[in-house]
Amino acid sequence: MKMKQIFANNRCWIAQKLQLDSDYFDKLSQGQNPDLLYIGCSDSRVTAEELMGAEPGEVFVHRNIANLVPNNDLSALSVIQYAVEVLQVKHIVVCGHYGCGGVQAAMQHTDLGLLNPWLRNIRDVYRKHHHELDAISDENQRYKILVERNVREQCIHVLKTATVQKAFSAYGLAVHGWVFDLHTGRLIDLEIPYKTILDEIRKIYRIG
Ligand code: CO
Repeated sequence: MKMKQIFANNRCWIAQKLQLDSDYFDKLSQGQNPDLLYIGCSDSRVTAEELMGAEPGEVFVHRNIANLVPNNDLSALSVIQYAVEVLQVKHIVVCGHYGCGGVQAAMQHTDLGLLNPWLRNIRDVYRKHHHELDAISDENQRYKILVERNVREQCIHVLKTATVQKAFSAYGLAVHGWVFDLHTGRLIDLEIPYKTILDEIRKIYRIG
């Protein structure tokens, strides 16, 4: 994609928006009121808003390699805190995707420098589920299940935060785990039982 093209596209987009609603940007500049926080992968093919058909202002987005929510990641945790405490989103979604390069890299035994500590989070998910994963002989299938288990684990990390625990009690904030399938374009809801999980983990992780 050429830089020049980007600015030409931008001018086109402005014209299209104004044609439908001449006050479009006046309204947009007045503020945001999204219901949803989306935490997804940085992968260029998994376009958060586009695959959901969401318009500007509808979704608060955080993306990083392999949609992780490490407990010492100031960026992800700040996004969660702001989305919940200020924007008061009703839903938090962690969305992974099959064919995730980050998850695949974590399945290989290679030194990847700075990526090592980041991908360690995924290796930890593997270690937690290694009985189940090692029993899957088809490597592709094992890769897919690790993507799903990683999404679930990151949802649990979301539930471990004081911000989310307080918002769950106060107004029933919901947490969801999704997977995007690049082969079909389908968004799959893993139907993670976040209320049951929260009940269970609160015995140890209750801080809010
Ligand atoms: Co990815």
